[in-house]
Amino acid sequence: MRATQAATSIGRVTTVRLNSTDNAVSFDTDALVVGVHIGPDGPRPAPGAEGLDEALGGKLAATLDAVGVKGRPGEVAKVPTFGALTAPLLVVVGLGDAPDGDYDAETLRRAAGIAARALAGTGRAAFALPATRARQAGAIALGGLLGAYSFTRYRTVGDRQAPVGELTVLSDAEGAEDAVRRAVTVATSVSLVRDLVNTPPSDLWPARFAEIAQESGTAAGLSVEVLDERELKEGGYGGIVAVGQGSVNPPRLVRLAYGHPEATTTIAFVGKGITFDSGGLSLKPTTSMDWMKSDMGGAGAVLGALVAIAGLGLKVNAIGYLCLAENMPSGTAQRPSDVFTSFAGKTVEVLDTDAEGRLVLIDGIARAGQDDPDLIVDVATLTGAQIVALGWRTAGVMANDDALREEVVEIAGAEGEGAWGMPLPEDLRKGLDSPVADIANLHPERFGGMLTAAIFLREFVPDGVRWAHIDMAGPAFNKGEPHGYTPKGGTGAITRTLVGLAERYAG
Ligand code: BES
Ligand code: MN
Ligand code: ZN
Repeated sequence: MRATQAATSIGRVTTVRLNSTDNAVSFDTDALVVGVHIGPDGPRPAPGAEGLDEALGGKLAATLDAVGVKGRPGEVAKVPTFGALTAPLLVVVGLGDAPDGDYDAETLRRAAGIAARALAGTGRAAFALPATRARQAGAIALGGLLGAYSFTRYRTVGDRQAPVGELTVLSDAEGAEDAVRRAVTVATSVSLVRDLVNTPPSDLWPARFAEIAQESGTAAGLSVEVLDERELKEGGYGGIVAVGQGSVNPPRLVRLAYGHPEATTTIAFVGKGITFDSGGLSLKPTTSMDWMKSDMGGAGAVLGALVAIAGLGLKVNAIGYLCLAENMPSGTAQRPSDVFTSFAGKTVEVLDTDAEGRLVLIDGIARAGQDDPDLIVDVATLTGAQIVALGWRTAGVMANDDALREEVVEIAGAEGEGAWGMPLPEDLRKGLDSPVADIANLHPERFGGMLTAAIFLREFVPDGVRWAHIDMAGPAFNKGEPHGYTPKGGTGAITRTLVGLAERYAG
């Protein structure tokens, strides 16, 4: 069981052009997916499902009623077709109220994801959801692929139903092929990130993560550079070294680079890659520790985004830094009250070894300055305070530039990833003063912990560079039940936002 196995758990997708939605009725597939709305008197078929009622002898509404489908978002029902359609199975998903104008991409992604999850064990499925525009066809493909994700690498017994094998999006929209191609590229990257997050820390330590980054990065056409523990020490990466020194699995810094000859903008992404966060000597309680394999989700998102950006051939320069370390307690671990010199040259007093993410990030952020980027965006499962403030599904976005912060929030929204802008109140800076070093890694006040972490990072941003910070402690890992196209466990959160940001800055 090696973590090298490619992320092939998402199935394949193809587009098919149809002139008429009636063709859905005779489309050769194992399952046909259609949408239904909440209508004034019961569920009403959505566009894409028009010919269906006739083929079913006018019994669609009564059938949906019988299986309890109202058309609400989140509803899904499997209905046998008894030969009325070519497909033996009809899968009906709720789309809520019919929209006034265009169908919203996230509604379609979620519906397709819910259908795909219900389709586990099915060979081929065709999606006859509303897709009169290319971006809608893309949304259906993306939602379907992400919903079909499964992580079974470590299962030897029990229910091992394979995810739906082949997805077809029925659309005659102009540009649908390109939109579906983008969806496949993005879904492949998100699945890679989910696989990395789900992989237990016994199989994913910093050097192993670096190896996977090397393999998948090189395959995507990125140039990849890995600094090992000796090079990190000699290079002055005091934060990454300090966090990693307590583990038998030494730290790494990975630099991934993608360039386009016509690019006018250089973006640097920096990801927190703690392959396991025990807290170090400031040890976490048991109930906070069992999911800390997800503490490398930021580095995962950066790797996934770089691979996708290269796959899409965007006209932008993108650099990714993966700050990889394992935070463990031991005789060689850093101690609360230790002081190190960071890559930027500033000294840091470590008052709490569990506030380690900011320590590895500041070296990555400062090093990114050497690439002369137009903007730096860091991504991290940084604080429990983010979850307290915004919950499980909404990342916090902070920045040294209001326009950039709003841009990140807007792009995340368009991608269907929850994110919300948060302030950097100046009065919180003073609490980070240290009696011995230039700055301390812990604020005496627990409240506003997401903000003080960001204020700490800001001190290490190269002068004159626009910077945004995304705290996704909650969104990176789904401890609850699957929903929409999001499975239990690793979600791949913020990968799509980074790709969207690169697209925004691509010429
Ligand atoms: N990795 C954690 C943050 C985290 C918490 C991520 C829950 C995902 C879910 C981070 O390294 C951490 O331990 N943060 C501390 C900081 C504190 C000591 C200032 C926290 O939030 O409690
Ligand atoms: Mn921690
Ligand atoms: Zn952490």
